Amino acid sequence: MKKISFASDNYAGIHPDILRAISDANRHHAPAYGSDEYTASAIETFREHFGADVEVHFVFNGTGANVTALAAMNASYQAVICSDKAHIQVDECGAPEKFTGSKLLLVPTSNGKITVDGIRRQWRRLGDQHYVQSHIISISQTTELGTVYTPDEIRDIADFAHSHQMYLHMDGARLSNAAVFLGLDLKSITRDAGVDVLSFGGTKNGMMIGEAVVLFNRAINGNFMYIRKQSMQLASKMRFISAQFQALLTNQLWQKNAAHANDMALLLAEKLSEFSDIKVTQSVQGNAIFAIMPEVLITELQKKYHFYVWDEDRYEVRLMTSFDTEAADIEAFVRDIRELRTA
Ligand SMILES: Cc1ncc(COP(=O)(O)O)c(C=O)c1O
Repeated sequence: MKKISFASDNYAGIHPDILRAISDANRHHAPAYGSDEYTASAIETFREHFGADVEVHFVFNGTGANVTALAAMNASYQAVICSDKAHIQVDECGAPEKFTGSKLLLVPTSNGKITVDGIRRQWRRLGDQHYVQSHIISISQTTELGTVYTPDEIRDIADFAHSHQMYLHMDGARLSNAAVFLGLDLKSITRDAGVDVLSFGGTKNGMMIGEAVVLFNRAINGNFMYIRKQSMQLASKMRFISAQFQALLTNQLWQKNAAHANDMALLLAEKLSEFSDIKVTQSVQGNAIFAIMPEVLITELQKKYHFYVWDEDRYEVRLMTSFDTEAADIEAFVRDIRELRTA
């Protein structure tokens, strides 16, 4: 039996328009390593969204986008301030530390978001040769806990970063979901809010493979192509990543996919609210729901559905929706919860 998945938007397949774009790009030979027409036009499309002067570089995955972005800004004695829940801290197997040599300075958070107050506590001992020197602040939008920074919250962090000679990096693996939640375009919550470098997600929003590093601050651009190659993130047949981005950023597909995923998350959260022994623990602002539920329910549901236990100590699960989640999947899940509780 096919298991319905609420495990991750990474479990989803490829959106048909994107698959078609890959197939359309598969007609002939084309120059390699990004010197092709698909890459040129995808970069133009990024510029329509983010501004005519941005630099855009495609990479294979989100870890690669984050690592190359951080490497472009930091020397190994410089540190990155981020949340203790950040993907770069928790889920990248130490790749940022290995490839950049930089220490991560962690700001504790219960909802995934960090604030200037928390950052200020990690930003210390500047000019002390015995201590790492803070040089980047990294935030995730949406956060790893499915919450969303407002433009003002980002601006506060950016202002603090810039007034203390630091850069602001945004891990936007799910930036589209955040933009949809806020009802804003992609530029207003990145460049216009003071972000210097963005990791922009494609895979979680309907692409097969590929993420982009978008550089807003031209002081950083010079070395990026060398860093990408050295980090093994330069695709020879880049046109197949570029064609996907072209499709994603055309006809508002990025927005439609994210809006659907967000709507499905809200629907699921609403349905879960009927159960007194299930407690949603985070505000549902993107396509993730965090909920505490009885252990026995988790065990039984996992026989039929893919999803992760996020915090084993308190039986907190993460349920994720994606561009192809169907309302019927949610109905089935909720029906099973009802039946299991009366069994
Ligand atoms: C916040 C965040 N950043 C980045 C990534 C990208 O990771 P990957 O290297 O698996 O593409 C993920 C994937 O789950 C993520 O949740």
